[in-house]
Amino acid sequence: MQRLIIKGGKRLCGEIKVQGAKNSALPLLAGCLLAEGRTVLTRCPELSDVFTACRILNELGCKCSFRDNTAVTDTSGAEGFCISEALMREMRSSIVFMGAVLGRTGKCELSYPGGCELGPRPIDMHITALRQLGVKISEEHGRISCVCPKGIRGAVIDLPFPSVGATENIMLAAVCGEGETLIRNAAREPEIRDLAALLNRCGADIRGAGCSTIRINGVKSLHGCEYEVMPDRIAAATYMAAAATTGGELGLLGVNCEDVRAVTAVFEEMGAAVYCPENSIFISCARPLRAVRMIRTMPYPGFPTDAQAVVMAALATARGSSMIAENIFECRYRHVDELVRMGADIKTSGRTAVIQGVSRLYGANVMAHELRGGAALVAAALGAEGMTAVSGVQYIDRGYEQIERAFGSLGADIRRAFG
Ligand code: EPZ
Repeated sequence: MQRLIIKGGKRLCGEIKVQGAKNSALPLLAGCLLAEGRTVLTRCPELSDVFTACRILNELGCKCSFRDNTAVTDTSGAEGFCISEALMREMRSSIVFMGAVLGRTGKCELSYPGGCELGPRPIDMHITALRQLGVKISEEHGRISCVCPKGIRGAVIDLPFPSVGATENIMLAAVCGEGETLIRNAAREPEIRDLAALLNRCGADIRGAGCSTIRINGVKSLHGCEYEVMPDRIAAATYMAAAATTGGELGLLGVNCEDVRAVTAVFEEMGAAVYCPENSIFISCARPLRAVRMIRTMPYPGFPTDAQAVVMAALATARGSSMIAENIFECRYRHVDELVRMGADIKTSGRTAVIQGVSRLYGANVMAHELRGGAALVAAALGAEGMTAVSGVQYIDRGYEQIERAFGSLGADIRRAFG
């Protein structure tokens, strides 16, 4: 069992290049399946979920190699349409391969995806939308079988909620389909823009990504290209939280400030100084910080649910009382009990958390139950008095590239312990 051992209290200082975005790299890798020949994704983060995506591609007959943050895919001879249950269970985003496999082969067999424990994560919107595109879907013994006898046909799809994954699946399925597809109430997250940009570079005709209405004109085929994965806005938020817990000063390089506006606004409200020159964010935090008014997690451009836990870690030692309403996932407060072990004063009731700032947190043995909650424990531990051991590191590794090396380079006393 691996743990992160953190001796808190070191002020973090310095500059760091932010990794490529996990939540973009995964759908982009699915998108590579649609391009004929070779596609090169640079700034691809070295993460366990990215390796799982490569293994799914391999299982489908697509060559996928990974080296020095570059993934190279080659679809020559990729005719597979079945994804094994073992790979589907490894991560939630395995579901975006559904649209890509359908787009490539006109059929697909897979099972329900796994992923972090954030409460129920149904895929009903994905299924309904794909049916509207002409896909016949049946389920038996947990396996989902899809065929489109007449091929993918464009349609007008009104999503009941701007689901990120459903928007991506529709785009992937429709991009090489027949005619025009309109997605209304589409997710507007920057990762959607990134997927459209990759597909367009491969020859697709997608307009409006990043807005609520996306228009896709089906094209006959896509070709390979070289593309750089967008920066990870949630990793950037995590560094900002660590600057806040340690009273540090950090320069985050290669991030689009606009993509994290809702998060930087909260840190500014806490009293941090944030400066955003082109493609970077500089944040300086003199402690103690102040509590903030209500934070409500919302679809983009609202405050991202993925940054809720790390911002909570920063608020745990801010002066005064803050409130968070988690509106996206039902069960995204599993880090709270662990923060409380470290001395935080946080109470939850349903989707609401009330954080009463304490003067300091103390090191403790804590457990990550999921990715972002785990990152929050690391951010809290970096500012806490004494030693913290964080277990459940496998969750953190899903989304953060060698987190101990990244924080170590900024002055943290952090190491990984094995066994
Ligand atoms: C993506 O998940 C991200 N994952 C999540 O990041 C992120 O928290 C989430 O979007 C919201 O921003 C990836 O991009 C790989 P949704 P996704 O479909 O696509 C409900 C992280 O920590 N819903 O927008 O699964 C759903 O249950 C991860 O990096 C349905 O009810 O999110 C949730 O309540 C965790 N039916 C809400 O919509 C559906 O068919 C938002 O889900 C689909 C979704």
